[in-house]
Amino acid sequence: MSGRRRLCRLDELPDPGSRGFTLGSHTGAVEIFMVRRGPQVYAYRNSCPHTGATLEWQPDVFLDHSRTLIQCGLHGALFRIENGECVHGPCVGRHLEAVPVEVRDGTILLRADPIAG
Ligand code: FES
Repeated sequence: MSGRRRLCRLDELPDPGSRGFTLGSHTGAVEIFMVRRGPQVYAYRNSCPHTGATLEWQPDVFLDHSRTLIQCGLHGALFRIENGECVHGPCVGRHLEAVPVEVRDGTILLRADPIAG
């Protein structure tokens, strides 16, 4: 797929908060999640660098209690929201895989399709 894909509206994400998505196509499916902090949105593949497990505690819950870090629900690794770097836990120094998104006119768009590679 070329071009940008609409994911959702910015105001559909809690602030601060998170939401998971499944991107599907005829070639497969990829799980991603987005984190909103004010006007900024960050997106990553939903795969922990420790084991490849999905990260959420409950559906759409990817942040720790302070809502300042991403937290893996399996072994508790903590990641910076702004760059996906693991700062605590079994995969310190490794990164979540970023997914390029942008906000345009209040809509969150996927800039490149991770399924297409
Ligand atoms: S699978 Fe995420 S910390 Fe172990």
